[in-house]
Amino acid sequence: MTRLSDIISRDEWTREDLAYAVGLEEGDPERELLSEAAHRVKAERVGCVSYYRGLIEFSNICVKNCLYCGIRKSHSSVHRFESTLDEILGIAKWTYENHYGSVVLQSGERTDPKFIDFVEEALRGIKRVSDGKLGITLCVGEQTEETYRRWFEAGAHRYLLRIEESSPELYSTLHPADGHHLWSVRDACLRTLKKIGYQVGTGVMIGLPGQTAENLADDILYFKALGIDMIGMGPYIVSRGTPLGDRVEAEGGNTDAACRRRFILGLNMIAATRLALKDVNIAATTALQGLDKRGRELGLKAGANILMPIVTLPEHRADYQLYDGKPCIEDTSDQCKRCLTGRVRWAGDTVGFDSWGDSRHYFGERGINPAPHIEAGEGTVGAGIRTVIPICSEGRAGIGRLPLYGRKLTPRRNSGGRFLTAIFLSAW
Ligand code: 5AD
Ligand code: SF4
Repeated sequence: MTRLSDIISRDEWTREDLAYAVGLEEGDPERELLSEAAHRVKAERVGCVSYYRGLIEFSNICVKNCLYCGIRKSHSSVHRFESTLDEILGIAKWTYENHYGSVVLQSGERTDPKFIDFVEEALRGIKRVSDGKLGITLCVGEQTEETYRRWFEAGAHRYLLRIEESSPELYSTLHPADGHHLWSVRDACLRTLKKIGYQVGTGVMIGLPGQTAENLADDILYFKALGIDMIGMGPYIVSRGTPLGDRVEAEGGNTDAACRRRFILGLNMIAATRLALKDVNIAATTALQGLDKRGRELGLKAGANILMPIVTLPEHRADYQLYDGKPCIEDTSDQCKRCLTGRVRWAGDTVGFDSWGDSRHYFGERGINPAPHIEAGEGTVGAGIRTVIPICSEGRAGIGRLPLYGRKLTPRRNSGGRFLTAIFLSAW
């Protein structure tokens, strides 16, 4: 028995086990074992279905100055843009009509009231143009609890906020020490999002300077300790003109061999996370493809089950470059769709069209069977049930969202006595 097969046979992985798996190098036959085992767990626990989230990068204006990021505030040569509400809704409509099931609304971080109102309006608009059927993930950074609650009420049900690095010490080397980039605040935001009831996603950059296999093992243990539902992580890629990118380049850390190492680490992290966390959603991120043409497919084979095809307007794609060599910026959404479907097939998955593809972990944690279901009549609203459609004698009468799980629902009649019952539509 090899060391890895011994590790795989155990249900609980220690920090040493995780570090060993993550650190396996290209060419080591144990890497095949790792990937196969992760793929088996994926098949058993979440199924070989890839769910799409159309990624709408709606603005590259950011108040933060993360040392690695190509759209950081101080990067003066970046052309800044803001999509209009109509543009966002047009993209959402395309996404819905192309059966993607969900969108991710992503932008640089802003906390001003205008931005908060705009995001809320966009959330309500997306629900409106998709007849309440598009799932929505938000990825717009650190906010107050009140803001997170407003957006949850407006229709967002998943939130992505990468911790970037679970070690506060390493985090502090990646961000300016100006009081606005605090690990403790980010960690607190994740806990708040969980408390509110979002499906919460986080993740890290992989292959950062100074980061060890033990740090990456700690990242996975951090995901686990926090009860994270979704993981979005990918290799660090140099962005020239940023403080970290220029340093890495000057120190010889941007060679083909170094990039390849980060790519392999990225795949190993997906596999180890799948084996350790089992029923979470894991994205095969675009950054993987930034380092290898088949990066995302290999991510799916290593245990990922989520893809985030870019649906940003073509004229804004080049301005949303967090790192150099971002793929897909020349493509239209139609081209991306065709290309991606082929990639998913190659990886042996099918596409979960028209489905939210929510995190099974989220439901499992609440003791609720996430199987698709439609119920009629009296009942208690379970997690995942976000839409209640009162039925009247003339058919569908209206849609109301119920953000509170566990709420008792009784069939009611309206003043005309026409509501006969209610159908609870699962988000699944
Ligand atoms: N390389 C890889 N990922 C990056 N991100 C930002 N800059 C880079 C980079 N140079 C990631 C961060 C952020 C997400 C939106 O993009 O993890 O959370
Ligand atoms: Fe802004 Fe996010 Fe880039 Fe940091 S990583 S500078 S918060 S867009």
